[in-house]
Amino acid sequence: MNIILLGPPGAGKGTQAKQLEEQFNLVQLSTGDMLREEVKAGTALGQTAKKIMDAGELVPDDLIIAMISDRIDQAKGKNGVILDGFPRTTPQAEALDQMLAEKNIQLDHVIQIEIAEDIIVARLSGRFGCAKCGAGYHDEFKQTQKEGVCDECGSTEFIRRSDDNPETVRNRLAAYEKQTAPILPYYAAKGTLQKVDGLGEIEEVYHRVEEIVSGGS
Ligand code: AP5
Repeated sequence: MNIILLGPPGAGKGTQAKQLEEQFNLVQLSTGDMLREEVKAGTALGQTAKKIMDAGELVPDDLIIAMISDRIDQAKGKNGVILDGFPRTTPQAEALDQMLAEKNIQLDHVIQIEIAEDIIVARLSGRFGCAKCGAGYHDEFKQTQKEGVCDECGSTEFIRRSDDNPETVRNRLAAYEKQTAPILPYYAAKGTLQKVDGLGEIEEVYHRVEEIVSGGS
């Protein structure tokens, strides 16, 4: 099963992808996480990407397309992939179609998580993650069970994303509206786009997503 999760920054794509990954034995392919790994490793791609990401803009299509193609190949042997944060532009969506056709992979679900802008700002301003294993949390909506200790790996070190500040968030939202929202009609025209209300508790939203991927709607 191969899934695309679409939606603005902070819609909950990563949060939902993690749960889908676990339940359905899929591989989450987050282009944002991949780029952050490149930044951390100090690669040439990472150095190029850092400035762009900190400005809240999109990394050039050719760099992203080359990066994701290899990762899709590496996921062979699992039940499929969840594309989280890709595609984000019309050229990326077209390149993905071509890539999947060449790899003989079928796309099963394109799910758009819908959420209002004021909720996005609240979600991103409270987001933090484990510095060791990357598990995601929120100051208010998803706290660690034991204060200051990661539920997944027990680490006591946490990080906040440098692009979650108000100014960069505004730019990320603008990039979403200008460059990513136009791909929604692309999938709608193919008849593959399904919308999910992203408002509600994490488990409630997951239930809606799960219903779609399990064939319940
Ligand atoms: P990326 O890392 O993909 O960021 P994004 O799309 O802006 O999405 P986020 O990760 O911010 O949000 P999310 O929807 O995953 O929300 P989450 O589940 O964490 O991209 C970063 C940058 O990389 C881009 O700006 C761009 O520069 C570059 N980039 C990446 N891909 C690219 C591409 N394809 N092309 C070009 N450039 C690219 O949830 C957010 C918070 O809310 C968390 O704290 C969570 O705990 C909480 N939360 C989640 N769901 C709920 C809920 N239902 N109720 C309450 N809280 C919730």
